[in-house]
Amino acid sequence: MKAAYINQPGPPESIIYGDLPTPRPTGNQVLVKMAAVAVNPIDTYVRSGTVAMPLPKPFIVGNDLAGVVEALGPDAKRFKPGDRVWCSCQGILGRQGTFAEYAAVEERFLNPIPEGVSDETAAACALVSLTSQLGLVRDAALQAGETLFVNGGTGGIGSMVVQMSKAIGARVVTTAGSDTKLAKARELGADLAINYKTDDVPARVKEFAPEGINVWWETLREPDFDRTVSLLAPRGRMILMAGREARPPFPVGPFYVKGCHLYGFAMFNATNDELRAASEDINRWLAAGKVKPCIDRILPLAETATAHRLQEDSTVGKSGTLAGKIVLKP
Ligand SMILES: NC(=O)c1ccc[n+]([C@@H]2O[C@H](COP(=O)([O-])OP(=O)(O)OC[C@H]3O[C@@H](n4cnc5c(N)ncnc54)[C@H](OP(=O)(O)O)[C@@H]3O)[C@@H](O)[C@H]2O)c1
Repeated sequence: MKAAYINQPGPPESIIYGDLPTPRPTGNQVLVKMAAVAVNPIDTYVRSGTVAMPLPKPFIVGNDLAGVVEALGPDAKRFKPGDRVWCSCQGILGRQGTFAEYAAVEERFLNPIPEGVSDETAAACALVSLTSQLGLVRDAALQAGETLFVNGGTGGIGSMVVQMSKAIGARVVTTAGSDTKLAKARELGADLAINYKTDDVPARVKEFAPEGINVWWETLREPDFDRTVSLLAPRGRMILMAGREARPPFPVGPFYVKGCHLYGFAMFNATNDELRAASEDINRWLAAGKVKPCIDRILPLAETATAHRLQEDSTVGKSGTLAGKIVLKP
């Protein structure tokens, strides 16, 4: 089969697009024939070695996939050949990745694709939708009528958080770095979209939510906690999930006196039950058209190295080139 893989961590150009043996499903694995995959920032950290993970050799890059069940391992029971499925959580913690014509995936990670939902949509939503559901529902327990803030309303995570928060019934404030992206964020449902490059973000947030923000979802890799805590409502919740190297100052007094809470998590540490509950919400929202991914572009799988370079430059290098996800197709 064709696959995008590395022999050792390195820059995007170390990704080889070539032939590898098609995997055979063992135990409770399911062999999935790929229809679409999507890039996430974590793919680039694992490929470069900045996030050290045990890697099979050769290592196929990528977390997310959408495709069709082709064959079953001897103990696999949840799916049958021909079923359409999506999943994330591959290509990390020693598991082989998804950027290939086929992948053998443990059945516990797989979810059915709802009828009427495209392969590109399912792949583009996978990691970002699981992350957003876990933060909003499992951790912050966002309630209808509350006000949520998220930076980057057209980013991979930000666009999901905006739409899921609206599906839950919250008021949503977000930011973006251009007029086109602001318009897109409003289209996704944001009640207020602020240009973080030209507007006074704290002033606009205070005007919109004088009583404060109930849930602040931080996507920035270098958060400004003084600013954030000052904008939180009493008993406000803050979600942290980016910036492994970040060590910013933290306003301890203002935070605890307001009775605030802080949640931090990495999606891939979620339990099977948590992932299952999240995927059920996601499939319900996808089927109802309440959640749609922002797909910036679709590339052939052969262009995985280009896709990694774009993702890295946009997320880590802050070029802002992308508005949402890169989907690739074999
Ligand atoms: N913990 C976890 O489980 C987990 C899961 C997924 C992702 N992450 C991490 O979360 C971060 C975001 O991931 P992503 O996939 O959403 O990346 P992304 O698609 O590149 O989005 C980044 C967003 O940040 C916005 N942004 C950049 N600088 C900003 C600033 N100064 N003020 C406000 N917004 C700004 C960008 O807005 P513009 O495009 O408008 O400039 C863009 O929308 C990454 O660091 C990723 O590694 C963690």
